[in-house]
Amino acid sequence: MYIRQEVMAPGMRMTVFNGSPRKNGSDARILEEAVRTAEGMGYECETIDVYSLGIGGCRACMACKKTGSCVQKDGMNEVLEKIRSSDIIVLASPIYFGAEAGPMKILMDRMYPMVGTHDGSQKPDVGSLKKVNVLLTCADPKGAMTYGSILSRYVSSFKIMGVTDTEGAIIPGADPETVMSSDYTPGYLDILRYQLEG
Ligand SMILES: Cc1cc2nc3c(=O)[nH]c(=O)nc-3n(C[C@H](O)[C@H](O)[C@H](O)COP(=O)(O)O)c2cc1C
Repeated sequence: MYIRQEVMAPGMRMTVFNGSPRKNGSDARILEEAVRTAEGMGYECETIDVYSLGIGGCRACMACKKTGSCVQKDGMNEVLEKIRSSDIIVLASPIYFGAEAGPMKILMDRMYPMVGTHDGSQKPDVGSLKKVNVLLTCADPKGAMTYGSILSRYVSSFKIMGVTDTEGAIIPGADPETVMSSDYTPGYLDILRYQLEG
């Protein structure tokens, strides 16, 4: 019989990005459980509402390839500091027309300062970030298969930043009741727990 060993992680930080506009939607409900799980293990958690950040798109000016920060003064540099000082981040988004919601894509694009240059003149700089957890929710009951490539894109994007532990799940359920009764949700929380333990 497998007995889970309780692992406590005092001083570890988990930053959660909720990329849904619905404050009480499916993502928010699962994230509540995710935060409860992490706090129970001693993690210090902060949840950030991505729609409220109001950050603009990456301008591809490449200034960050010299400085490691963004020239846009819209709060993204502060967000980058939160990411860099986290041990794990959770990126959560509903699926909109086959992709993550727009503000989550913008958040991802704005992480470009953490990516190194091809010629090696700038190394990737993710600070203390070691793990990324991705939560995608959708209405399509077969969404776990339909949208798998989105998860793969996050895995490869963080790999080029040097983060090799990117895991997650796609959970079908257009409302909080459905996702909380979904067979996928305990599996997702197990994946997160393993990441938090490791
Ligand atoms: C604009 C829009 C587009 C959507 N597109 C899709 C889609 O392509 N595939 C899908 O399965 N669900 C789609 N949905 C449903 C949401 O992904 C689903 O309801 C999700 O669980 C909502 O999460 P939330 O409650 O956290 O916002 C869409 C919803 C909206 C509002």
